[in-house]
Amino acid sequence: MASPPVSHRPGVPSLTRNKVLLIVSLAITWWIASLVPQYKPTIQAKFRARLNEALQKLPSIKVDWDVTSSDPRNAYNSSKVALLIEPRPLPHLVPQILHMISVVPPDWRFLFIGSEKSVVSVGRAYATKHQQVIGKLDLMVLPEPWKIDNREDAFRLLTDIRFYDEFLPGVEWLLRYESDSLLCANSGSSLNDWLDWSWVGAQRKFGDAYAGNGGLSLRRVSVIRQILGFQARRNDTEPEDQWFSVRVPTLPGAKVTTATDQRFAVEDVWFTSPMGYHVPNGGHNLSDAVWGSAGRRKQIFDYCPELTMIMDMKLERERCYTQNRPVGNPWTDASYPPS
Ligand SMILES: *[C@@H]1O[C@H](CO)[C@@H](O)[C@H](O)[C@H]1NC(C)=O
Ligand SMILES: *[C@@H]1O[C@H](CO)[C@@H](O)[C@H](O)[C@H]1NC(C)=O
Ligand SMILES: *[C@@H]1O[C@H](CO)[C@@H](O)[C@H](O)[C@H]1NC(C)=O
Repeated sequence: MASPPVSHRPGVPSLTRNKVLLIVSLAITWWIASLVPQYKPTIQAKFRARLNEALQKLPSIKVDWDVTSSDPRNAYNSSKVALLIEPRPLPHLVPQILHMISVVPPDWRFLFIGSEKSVVSVGRAYATKHQQVIGKLDLMVLPEPWKIDNREDAFRLLTDIRFYDEFLPGVEWLLRYESDSLLCANSGSSLNDWLDWSWVGAQRKFGDAYAGNGGLSLRRVSVIRQILGFQARRNDTEPEDQWFSVRVPTLPGAKVTTATDQRFAVEDVWFTSPMGYHVPNGGHNLSDAVWGSAGRRKQIFDYCPELTMIMDMKLERERCYTQNRPVGNPWTDASYPPS
């Protein structure tokens, strides 16, 4: 399970004996399959899945001759996928993904798309290996020419219908979270309560009728397909979520959130106990409306303490007194911060 990710460097043949054997056995099976016309469709489908796996996933595949044995992924609902795209091997990715796996309803599957580095860093933890074995989590390095090196690359990916066709076939609900967003374990509502919305995220500014921020958002892929069917995003223009957010509400029948039900995610607009938070840039671009007062910060961390995992923080005692540090201890003083 811990072999390195499939690399796409041309001119560097990395054929080991096992891989040659594997390819030969695949060829033989294929040939046998072609002699048995009535079994062809199943075997073909099985093979495609296996080949995809071999191309996309880290674990080495084992040829399974029993076509009736079930794929562990069948235990989940293949139309619901939680997607994280992150090229940086950030130390909090493993605990963040595991946290999300436990908070998102159990029928969802998880897909992590990373660079070779970030996929190795996520894949080598025992806990994530286990999630891969049980079919819950896939780690993937996209083949060329797909790229995720920067934000613009990810925007192009998410506004390209071929991405959905190739890597998310059959997916209708896509939860997109980033390395700086998560769902809170203390939330009283479930992601599955939101399935009939076309697109739901965080409100961008107070009074916005439509909550479309994409850093933590649930999207209907059919809605995305509808839009990409008649419009294309120009390269190097606005972020994908903004691009979609002016188009989704114009679709006939689209169901988008209104000002009264902004409980999905909080980013720039305050709301008590949302389902999750997006802390842009790991906390470097926080809005004052949400994070500006010590009281609100305490309220947020009391409700969603796991946010500290994805935020770039220091201990209170590391803060300089010149940085307006209030006297007292936020965890033991009932009246903290002193007024
Ligand atoms: C997957 O989830 C959707 C929405 O909850 C549901 O309509 C569908 O029947 C589920 N599919 C399977 C195979 O359980
Ligand atoms: C936009 O970028 C993609 C991929 O990076 C490229 O294939 C495409 O040609 C670009 N489109 C334009 C109009 O330049
Ligand atoms: C985020 O904060 C950095 C400084 O920490 C600033 O340079 C940058 O413009 C901010 N980005 C946004 C989108 O607000």
